[in-house]
Amino acid sequence: MMPFLSSLIIAGAILLVPSQSHTLFPFETKQLTREHVESLSEEDQRLFAFDDQLLELSAAQAATTCRYGPADGKWPSSNAWQRLSKQLSAADTLITTTPQASVCYGPSKNDAKCQDLTKNWSNSYTHIDDPTEILSPVYQGLTCQPPSIYDSVNCTLGGYPSYVIRAATVLDIQLGINFARNDGVRLVVKNTGHDYTGKSTGYGALSIWTHSLKDIQFFDNYIDGSGYKGPAIKTGAGVQTSELYKAANDHGVVVVAGQGQSVGVPGGYIQGGGHSPLSSLYGMAADHVLGFELVTPIGEFLTANSTSNPDLFWALRGGGGSTFGVVTSVIIKAFKDLPVTAATWSLDSTKLGTDRFWAATKAFVDRSGNDPDNGTYSYFKVSPNGNGKDYMFNMQPFFAPGKTASQTNTLLATYFSKLTSLNVPFSPKITEYKNFYSAWQAEFPLEPQSDVQTVLGSRLIPRSNFASEVGRNITFNVLRTTVEAGQTVLGFNFAPTLAVAGNPDNAVNPAWRSSVLHAITTRRVNPKSSTTEILSARNSFTNGTMQKWRDITPGSGSYLNEADRLEPSWQQSFWGDKYARLLAIKKELDRKDVFWAHNAVGSEGWAVSSVDGLPNENGKLCVVGEMVSTSRVRSSATRVPLTVREQAVAEPTGV
Ligand SMILES: Cc1cc2nc3c(=O)[nH]c(=O)nc-3n(C[C@H](O)[C@H](O)[C@H](O)COP(=O)(O)OP(=O)(O)OC[C@H]3O[C@@H](n4cnc5c(N)ncnc54)[C@H](O)[C@@H]3O)c2cc1C
Ligand SMILES: *[C@@H]1O[C@H](CO)[C@@H](O)[C@H](O)[C@H]1NC(C)=O
Ligand SMILES: *[C@@H]1O[C@H](CO)[C@@H](O)[C@H](O)[C@H]1NC(C)=O
Ligand SMILES: *[C@@H]1O[C@H](CO)[C@@H](O)[C@H](O)[C@H]1NC(C)=O
Ligand SMILES: *[C@@H]1O[C@H](CO)[C@@H](O)[C@H](O)[C@H]1NC(C)=O
Ligand SMILES: *[C@@H]1O[C@H](CO)[C@@H](O)[C@H](O)[C@H]1NC(C)=O
Ligand SMILES: *[C@@H]1O[C@H](CO)[C@@H](O)[C@H](O)[C@H]1NC(C)=O
Repeated sequence: MMPFLSSLIIAGAILLVPSQSHTLFPFETKQLTREHVESLSEEDQRLFAFDDQLLELSAAQAATTCRYGPADGKWPSSNAWQRLSKQLSAADTLITTTPQASVCYGPSKNDAKCQDLTKNWSNSYTHIDDPTEILSPVYQGLTCQPPSIYDSVNCTLGGYPSYVIRAATVLDIQLGINFARNDGVRLVVKNTGHDYTGKSTGYGALSIWTHSLKDIQFFDNYIDGSGYKGPAIKTGAGVQTSELYKAANDHGVVVVAGQGQSVGVPGGYIQGGGHSPLSSLYGMAADHVLGFELVTPIGEFLTANSTSNPDLFWALRGGGGSTFGVVTSVIIKAFKDLPVTAATWSLDSTKLGTDRFWAATKAFVDRSGNDPDNGTYSYFKVSPNGNGKDYMFNMQPFFAPGKTASQTNTLLATYFSKLTSLNVPFSPKITEYKNFYSAWQAEFPLEPQSDVQTVLGSRLIPRSNFASEVGRNITFNVLRTTVEAGQTVLGFNFAPTLAVAGNPDNAVNPAWRSSVLHAITTRRVNPKSSTTEILSARNSFTNGTMQKWRDITPGSGSYLNEADRLEPSWQQSFWGDKYARLLAIKKELDRKDVFWAHNAVGSEGWAVSSVDGLPNENGKLCVVGEMVSTSRVRSSATRVPLTVREQAVAEPTGV
């Protein structure tokens, strides 16, 4: 037994400290109780019991080697789904999945609706506000896309979950977890579907959709037992960045949250670490969490903060989403608002010639170790323009919180004089904003859905890479070669050091603390290529391009929320030396692996066996070594047309 867990263990069970209701949102006060379960019929008790309540019954399901799929004999009967629906907080809480693009195929085909949907498809909100769509559809398996985006031939459920609980209360979440666990059904969790690796979807799953949990509460002077005293904001699980920033601005404060307006805050973002335009001033978003409320794998609702379940609190701040439970709310510190200056500029090789273009681009990248010490966050893109010889650099933007326009000009003066000496004309647009919110709104536009061709990888590049001319040259050449090979590189230049973060002890990837450049690259892989061609392209991306990035950053890592689905040695890459403790906490808390997501902490024992052999969620989740053969899944379960699936299941709602 690891010593840090000993205080939590009583006779082999985790001691769960219940939440105090006065700190709860109204939706958190509606809970499932053990007494209620005991009052149910025997059949319902079996479906909805807490894991530690009816041990002899749930033990039967624990023996399963695969999560059951809709075509398996042991899949819950339609009667069982109806019983679930009946226990949920409202008649329409349980949703049967209908992929949006089913209007483009088969019996539900409606050309006008399909055209309308196709027009809206690249808008992220078309997917965020839908119960089952995700923003990186490649990992769903592309089984129901609008035909002009990707011809799916037939619309099938593929890697979409079968059912969704649109959670409106903690009760709904507890019932969903207990039902999935007791019945051997795969469980997934979605808020916005932003995850880049498919972690918020899964074949045959029951999904808990947290998106409606929009409560926000502001505290002028929150007093936390750990010693913090000051402004704080508590947000429900469905709150997105734009909603949180607006609430903070309404009270004259700022919070550490992301640049993307539609990212969900309490789920994957904050649990995975969370970088922010304020990260060079305050570190990562997870560094400022005061407490979480969550429902655990056994179905218990509890608080994780510095005094209640402190190991879980440690793990939830960086350990990743979909691992330790469903977080229902989070309380974070808020800071005094501040003015911001933002600068944007671009460089174009068609105007400069490639030599001057690369020299001017290198002159900015070379500064990576300097600017963040002045609190800045810059987001830039270096992209090939498609003709094989021309390139663009776009700064979008250089974000300087707490700085005036004149101070920002001073900061950039050495860069601008370097451009002058290179004979590179430049005309930056420098804008001073009176507060954070107006700067963030103006400078970070809505990002579109990822297209069906995009493959992504990333690396955290340490400050030491930029400390010598040799290091700067080697680092830049690797990035430049990547762009010259036809890939776009995104750079996030900021430094979330332990010192600026206030020396928190949490599970955030230690590689962040010495990193000054979070670099991402994307490659296009045609999804219509053969399986062999796709696997070979992915191999050359992961083991070719990305290996060169790893070779120049030994011992560093990658940001789990913006990473390659096929990241090698992902435990070290995403968590470094914190992995062993995370794994021990996961194993204690979730002995039946109720929460499983690809490359999440403790996911080693299971894998998805996809029907097409590609890395995606369209296949059964099985214990490694016990995988069903691909052909069996294909013929029996996953390729069943949507209409048959709908007939097979009697309407679960309104019973
Ligand atoms: C357009 C775009 C912009 C981005 N900008 C930033 C940025 O500025 N900074 C940054 O750090 N990252 C950014 N990201 C990455 C982002 O942090 C991840 O995609 C993150 O996983 C999003 O979390 P989500 O909960 O919104 O997404 P989802 O896909 O809904 O969930 C992500 C993961 O968390 C789990 N999860 C969701 N809710 C809960 C919950 N309540 N409890 C437990 N598990 C849960 C899901 O099961 C899944 O595993 C961006 C991504 C995109 C696509
Ligand atoms: C497309 O977007 C428009 C405007 O947001 C909306 O009114 C319409 O319902 C959407 N259509 C579909 C099919 O999502
Ligand atoms: C599409 O459906 C038809 C009719 O059911 C079937 O013959 C065909 O194999 C399906 N195609 C795919 C790619 O699943
Ligand atoms: C943690 O949460 C519990 C339950 O809500 C509360 O009693 C306790 O004071 C909190 N601890 C801190 C450090 O605030
Ligand atoms: C930037 O940081 C350096 C080193 O800490 C400091 O000397 C300088 O004044 C800062 N510049 C601005 C404009 O704040
Ligand atoms: C670094 O690269 C520049 C060209 O970008 C070159 O002039 C310089 O000699 C190189 N320095 C070292 C130490 O390799
Ligand atoms: C990378 O190479 C390793 C070792 O050969 C292999 O196991 C892995 O599957 C490769 N990764 C990809 C994405 O092909």
